[in-house]
Amino acid sequence: MKGNFAVLGLQWGDEGKGKIVNFLSDRANAACRYQGGHNAGHTLIIDGKKIVLHLLPSSICHENALSLIGKGVVISCDALFEEIKQIEPVAKNISQKLKISPACSLIQPYHILFDQLKEKSNSFNTIGTTLRGIGPAYEDKVARRAIRIIDTLSEKKLSEKLEENISYYDFWLEKYFGHSKLDFQAIKDENLKNGEKLKPMLADVSAEIRKLNRENKRVLFEGAQGALLDVDQGTYPYVTSSNCSPAGIASGAGIGPHDIDYILGVVKAYVTRVGEGPMPTEIDDEVGEKIAIEGGEVGATTGRPRRCGWFDAVSVKRVIESNSVSALCLTKMDVLDFLDEIKICVDYRFTEDAEIFSECMDLETAQPEYITCKGWKQSIKGINKIEELPKEAIDFYRKIEELCGISVDVISTAPDDAGTIMLNQSI
Ligand code: IMP
Repeated sequence: MKGNFAVLGLQWGDEGKGKIVNFLSDRANAACRYQGGHNAGHTLIIDGKKIVLHLLPSSICHENALSLIGKGVVISCDALFEEIKQIEPVAKNISQKLKISPACSLIQPYHILFDQLKEKSNSFNTIGTTLRGIGPAYEDKVARRAIRIIDTLSEKKLSEKLEENISYYDFWLEKYFGHSKLDFQAIKDENLKNGEKLKPMLADVSAEIRKLNRENKRVLFEGAQGALLDVDQGTYPYVTSSNCSPAGIASGAGIGPHDIDYILGVVKAYVTRVGEGPMPTEIDDEVGEKIAIEGGEVGATTGRPRRCGWFDAVSVKRVIESNSVSALCLTKMDVLDFLDEIKICVDYRFTEDAEIFSECMDLETAQPEYITCKGWKQSIKGINKIEELPKEAIDFYRKIEELCGISVDVISTAPDDAGTIMLNQSI
């Protein structure tokens, strides 16, 4: 297969995308993050060492691949510089490989403060955010007052924009939360310093992608979060603030919708969710707890426990159909080794008009209907050949293919690259 491809989560994030992106990034000449910020947490195991990336594309550890951050990403400079420092011992030549769009909006200290005050306040509907300032940063972008990286390169422009922002936030902080005023000078100095540090890494990311494609080189687009957390397509309002479904790639990276040749949707063999919001297939008993333990289901970014549930073929099929997903990658099948029976949700019943509630992804009243598959009751951890999978495990993934209407092209049976079954060698 030639051309650009994308790897993104089709559930509520934490599907194991980091490993798959890292595994497939050998087949690409560049990887590009195009939405979200350091609310993401991608765990990679490289030479037995665990690495958690929040903002940098997972290709950063590959010597010959470029790492691109497109304009749809909101950047916390503190988080970015800290991550670069941590990754430096395993990733060579970061400053030459990393290219960042100067159109990216910057997460400011007042965004983080606002996110935290809002989540703690009783007057707002809290949704369990990562408290990283992501929502307020995107609010500023849509309100057309965001400080973008380009603004930090001119003291005059930065001062004008910051004045407007700080007077706006001071009003809210003081009147709504009784909080002290922001320190204009300190925030301005920090932005100017950050601009200087970012400057050598700035590039026209969309032009870089076109240049790579003209040279017949491939770009891998790396999604963060998952499609059910997409602000338009997810379980609103319990969502993040960006378009994390495939629809966000074009605007966030600066390419055309036809420039993506293959979209691999990553799904876990069950589902998890961190934070608030409906999850129709949630398992509220010891089975759910055991899945959480076996799967190490603790948030990579916030350390919060993840809620576990059965695989939900209804929501995944909806996301596949509304996003032209090409194929699935099924991860963490080995976590289900201990189960006698495994459920899959095949339909929802709504108490009111199903069509309207489905379109809004309002799943509060959705009652799941299940089929039950036989468990394989043996360890499949680390298996990398399809012939070695037990019959019940094959029946399980084939059932998912049938219910979702597309093929499973990759199966992951362990956190490291060795535990990967490639069913479509042409990716
Ligand atoms: P925010 O992105 O910090 O605004 O959080 C909004 C919602 O998205 C919360 O429910 C978070 O737990 C969830 N969320 C954000 N990033 C991730 C992620 O990378 N994995 C899973 N959930 C996430």
